Amino acid sequence: MLTVDTLNQYYGESHTLWDLDLDVPAGQCTCVMGRNGVGKTTLLKAIMGEVAISSGSIRYADDVELTRKRVEERSRLGIGYVPQGRQIFPLMTVEENLRTGLAARRDGKRSIPERVFELFPVLAEMKHRRGGDLSGGQQQQLAIGRALVIEPRLLILDEPGEGIQPNIVAQIGEVIRKLIDEDGLTVLLVEQKLPFARKYADRFVIMSRGRPVAKGDIGELSDRLIKEHLTV
Ligand SMILES: Nc1ncnc2c1ncn2[C@@H]1O[C@H](COP(=O)(O)OP(=O)(O)O)[C@@H](O)[C@H]1O
Ligand SMILES: [Mg+2]
Repeated sequence: MLTVDTLNQYYGESHTLWDLDLDVPAGQCTCVMGRNGVGKTTLLKAIMGEVAISSGSIRYADDVELTRKRVEERSRLGIGYVPQGRQIFPLMTVEENLRTGLAARRDGKRSIPERVFELFPVLAEMKHRRGGDLSGGQQQQLAIGRALVIEPRLLILDEPGEGIQPNIVAQIGEVIRKLIDEDGLTVLLVEQKLPFARKYADRFVIMSRGRPVAKGDIGELSDRLIKEHLTV
């Protein structure tokens, strides 16, 4: 579904992503892991076009080269993105927040798909509340809901469990599985929570200093790898 090939990225003089290769197979959840500062968020931003890259290719779906596409085009191609830290609009209502996502729909449809409320009933209950009045976990669900209004084929999430109460983290994990198993989505997830990755991901990729250093089926994520690359 997504193939990243020899990607290099710099912030000014600082070389952040190094000859990075990544394969995200269709119909699975691939979890990118690694300590703070290794470049996980930068990788996702490069895929979405939010940071400039210096070289490499990013191919999506039936061989569409993303690096030549503008940011808005990438979401229009069916890529939903939930950035780290949620970034919802606190003064807008839940419904208004969800509607902001509709602009990126290819078909011009201007209503929020019922599936979003089915997956996150709390968003229906709180439709008229302001985003800023929601709990952190509800805001995360709103951010995911907003990414889902385009009915994406690929959903990219950056640490959805960060700073959120455990029961909502579990609900988000269940939604990720439903999206894959019932709706046929592909998921690319950045998550540092080990039990979450083990329970909901199919594959892992560990990054260190801007490049992948290990990958495999989630069952192959060994204690040695965890000790070497994930624990602080
Ligand atoms: N906008 C930026 N300008 C300069 N350096 C940045 C910027 N964003 C991130 N960095 C640096 O790039 C490196 C990778 O950051 P990031 O991709 O956020 O890592 P992660 O998500 O794995 O914690 C870090 O050293 C970070 O300080
Ligand atoms: Mg990050």
